[in-house]
Amino acid sequence: MNQTTTPLRYNTLSQLFHWSVVLMLVGLVVTDSLRDGAPKESALRTEWLHLHESLGILLFLVVIARILWSRLSPQPAPLPAPQWSLIAAKLTHLLLNLATLLIPVFGYLRVVSKEGRFADFFGTQLPSLVAPSAQLNEAMHIFHGEPMEFFLYSLVGLHVAAALWHQYARRDGTLERMLPWGRPAA
Ligand code: HEM
Ligand code: HEM
Repeated sequence: MNQTTTPLRYNTLSQLFHWSVVLMLVGLVVTDSLRDGAPKESALRTEWLHLHESLGILLFLVVIARILWSRLSPQPAPLPAPQWSLIAAKLTHLLLNLATLLIPVFGYLRVVSKEGRFADFFGTQLPSLVAPSAQLNEAMHIFHGEPMEFFLYSLVGLHVAAALWHQYARRDGTLERMLPWGRPAA
């Protein structure tokens, strides 16, 4: 594991956390669209939803571990860039971490706020921490519905565009320090 006091790239565990979060987000979008495509009221539809819920809860746990690890391990210093760009990157990373913490909570609330529904974690029914509420369920159709989807995709799109811009237009090695191969930026 690359853990010197002034690392040039993200350490192995930070990279592993970063790319597993990306993979799990893809899995969440895929399981949601497979659920959407399954026949209404079918067992298959419930199975896809349960897998979506399980993956979302797992992502929540991974993001907590990721944030703790990023506080505990030495992180590379920001690469030279204009002040506004450094602030924008910091804010985007903060919002991405916040989104990946809050979206699963809203998903959980979307399930349990509906009468007779429980959140599933790989076959185990999780306790419902709030009482059923039509008002809460309606709010969760916003915070864990299409508006959330639009917000998340815009944020990730901005982040990916910035990473690619830095790597291929500015050629400052930004992407390479989040990958185990390539030239780490000095
Ligand atoms: C970061 C994690 C998650 C992401 C990115 C995510 C993403 C999504 C997306 C894109 C939708 C479709 C929204 C729409 O078009 O209305 C959705 C629906 C849903 N998600 Fe998640 N989700 C996550 C975690 C969770 C968790 C942890 C749960 C529950 C424990 C959950 C439960 C649901 C439910 C119940 C729906 C609605 C399904 C329906 O329409 O019947 N999600 N999610
Ligand atoms: C293909 C998609 C992605 C690419 C190419 C990418 C690329 C990168 C790169 C190059 C960095 C390092 C930036 C720097 O050193 O200043 C980074 C950091 C980061 N990325 Fe991504 N990223 C992607 C998707 C995501 C997604 C979906 C999230 C959502 C949670 C995310 C969250 C973060 C965070 C929070 C950081 C800050 C460093 C850390 O805490 O690990 N990225 N990303």
